Amino acid sequence: MVFLGKRILLGVTGGIAAYKAAELVRRLMGGGARVKVVMTAAAREFVGPLTFAALTGEKVATAMFGPESDPLEHISLGQEVDAIVVAPATANFIGKVAGGIGDDLLTTIMLAATVPVLVCPAMNAEMWANPVVQGNLARLKGRGLLVMEPAAGPLACGAVGLGRLPEPDLIVEAAAGLLSVRDLAGRKLLVTAGPTHEDFDPVRFLTNRSSGKQGYALARVAWRRGADVTLVSGPTSLPVPYGVKCVMVRSARDMQAAVKAHFPEVDALLMAAAVSDYRPTQAEVRKIKRAREEMTFHLTQNPDILKQMAPLKSQQIVVGFAAETHDLEAEARRKMREKHLDLIVANDVNRPDSGFQVDTNEVTLIPRVGEAMPLPLLSKEEVAAKILDQVVALLETRDEALTKNA
Ligand code: CTP
Repeated sequence: MVFLGKRILLGVTGGIAAYKAAELVRRLMGGGARVKVVMTAAAREFVGPLTFAALTGEKVATAMFGPESDPLEHISLGQEVDAIVVAPATANFIGKVAGGIGDDLLTTIMLAATVPVLVCPAMNAEMWANPVVQGNLARLKGRGLLVMEPAAGPLACGAVGLGRLPEPDLIVEAAAGLLSVRDLAGRKLLVTAGPTHEDFDPVRFLTNRSSGKQGYALARVAWRRGADVTLVSGPTSLPVPYGVKCVMVRSARDMQAAVKAHFPEVDALLMAAAVSDYRPTQAEVRKIKRAREEMTFHLTQNPDILKQMAPLKSQQIVVGFAAETHDLEAEARRKMREKHLDLIVANDVNRPDSGFQVDTNEVTLIPRVGEAMPLPLLSKEEVAAKILDQVVALLETRDEALTKNA
């Protein structure tokens, strides 16, 4: 539960996407957050405060003045919570915050706020493209506020373009970044995920059972913790995590090219992908017909991507994975030696609740130097966090060694 024990102030301003804020409340609360909603007068034209009061179980704050209002809420609310999310944020609201205007409860809270803020603009495409709006957004970013890009698609005004409120799941991911430790800030990470597809012909391929969930969880949690993340992903059905640059590939050789291109510029490589060890020697251009009773295919070994990175290593930390059915620790240690890794994540893929496809994983972290660390059954995000703790420590040790030798 990414927001467990956290209190989030959700500001809702007056755009048609205000109705989507109700779903966002549910997602934030689903992640463990307590949510306090503040609505502008224009937002109340679109959705009634009762909707948010019923969802959150808390009184919705709507005005600075009047018998219902708390005289100090305009100051205290932006300081007592752990984070502020404004969704949807109209061009008008953004302009007022950029200009330091506090003429209602929400904008005044923004003036006095001391906690991290996420702004999720939603508006008509022309408004979004207006240089005044873009200039105002740049001012917000310059003050350290996190601003999400709106999504493209059909808009309420009938036009199609940039301006839609991002999906609630994406807003939740961005909000998680506000509340996380930032111990990977300034670090560049390269993460691989998913299976590879090795073509027999235009419609058939050789692959494996990897879903990509562990690699995507690593990319997601690393972004939250401040890293600049590039994810090289084989074919999966997972959405690209918010903030992460994603390079989609199909075959092991595509993945090898993408990893090689990005490896020199990163601080760490985490190779969670289940790379196919073999590919059909010949990929047919035309569909193979059902003409023969039996068929034999020749397979050729694929390059070992991790092993190939070893000679290209300057100061990178390299983490490998070992999915095993037998002799887990011995096999993992052999791979760590052969592939020159700093850490290997070993998992027993025989277990039904661990490894491929499922949302949980039970792994052992084995560092090159030091004792193996068996972990209990955890969610893949929790496993990602444990792996990243080790990466943070390895990067710190590397930095200390570099300063000593400088
Ligand atoms: N790996 C790789 N390139 C390959 C195969 C694997 O970079 N062609 C990486 C995986 O991403 C993983 C690690 O090497 O991080 C170990 O992968 P695994 O499939 O467990 O081991 P293999 O080296 O393929 O050995 P085997 O399949 O014989 O167990």
